Amino acid sequence: MKPLRVGLTFNLKRVDPTRDDVEAEYDSPKTIAALCDAIASFGHSVVRLEATPDLARRLPRAGVDVVFNLAEGAGGRSREALVPALCELLRVPYTGSDPAALCVTLDKAMGKRILRDAGVPTPDFFLMETGREPLPRGWRFPAIVKPNIEGTSKGITTKSVVDDEAALRRRCREMIRRYRQPAIVEAYVAGREFTVGVLGWPRPRALAPMEVVFLQPQARTVYEFSLKQNWDGKLEYVCPARIAPAASRLMCRLALDAFTVFGCRDVARVDFRTDRRGRPFVIEVNPLPGMTPAFSDLVMIAEAAGIGYRDLIGRVLECALRRRRLGLV
Ligand SMILES: Nc1ncnc2c1ncn2[C@@H]1O[C@H](COP(=O)(O)OP(=O)(O)O)[C@@H](O)[C@H]1O
Ligand SMILES: [Mg+2]
Repeated sequence: MKPLRVGLTFNLKRVDPTRDDVEAEYDSPKTIAALCDAIASFGHSVVRLEATPDLARRLPRAGVDVVFNLAEGAGGRSREALVPALCELLRVPYTGSDPAALCVTLDKAMGKRILRDAGVPTPDFFLMETGREPLPRGWRFPAIVKPNIEGTSKGITTKSVVDDEAALRRRCREMIRRYRQPAIVEAYVAGREFTVGVLGWPRPRALAPMEVVFLQPQARTVYEFSLKQNWDGKLEYVCPARIAPAASRLMCRLALDAFTVFGCRDVARVDFRTDRRGRPFVIEVNPLPGMTPAFSDLVMIAEAAGIGYRDLIGRVLECALRRRRLGLV
């Protein structure tokens, strides 16, 4: 393969996530270095492109053949779509999903309406803009309250699970104030937690589900923010998950259905919970999953499927290169 110039677009983490979660979704210098190494190992040259506002001027001058996109963007519900939209404007092929898919999946309520319409099981929910709105008739507890347009478990702790209306309203008002966006309230699904990686274009393939096992049994488990930062002794990642083959197949099919209904491309991770009867519910689709070596869920899932880090990055890049060869963006 002819060596190419690959632009790596990213947002650099400068604020320690254990102190402040503003940049929790961003990538560390170490992750960026690992990605550069992986891309360069295929013989390409890598141009680092931090997704600051002047990217709009730097990208057209960078002369890249393709963009490997990791940028989470800043501010607002279209933030993840900013770099892909710029790539489309400049007609530079890029890895991963398009702006439309990134926007509707980032907005949890919007995404869930689409999943529901497609017949993909997802927990019941409603939105709170102020925290004073009436609850839907017959709403049942426990419920979980989350900021509607965040990721990386921002705003999610065991306190997010509420058992009555007063606690629900209190938590909603707190989330709305802290994150300056509506809160989504969902039926709490009490069973086990899984996540499924999806890879490939034009034909995506689901990798074997991974279970996130909570080692400190609690009445209400949530894959909360502090656990994602430091899971040592508190979580175990089991991949492939120890579940019946039929349950695994069902989750993989639902993951592919969810991926497809949003028109995702190349890579995503689909989060699941099962209820007490073992029925799976899609919690959300992440078309811009973390890719930190030996840390990110997707990297562990790929590893378990025999796809090492370099291979994973190579496969995602190859999807964009295939579109480039077809003259697509
Ligand atoms: N409806 C739900 N029932 C039970 N747990 C949930 C539910 N929604 C979220 N959670 C817990 O909170 C975690 C983070 O929620 P998620 O919607 O995936 O947000 P994020 O985008 O921050 O990853 C999930 O991995 C899960 O542990
Ligand atoms: Mg999630």
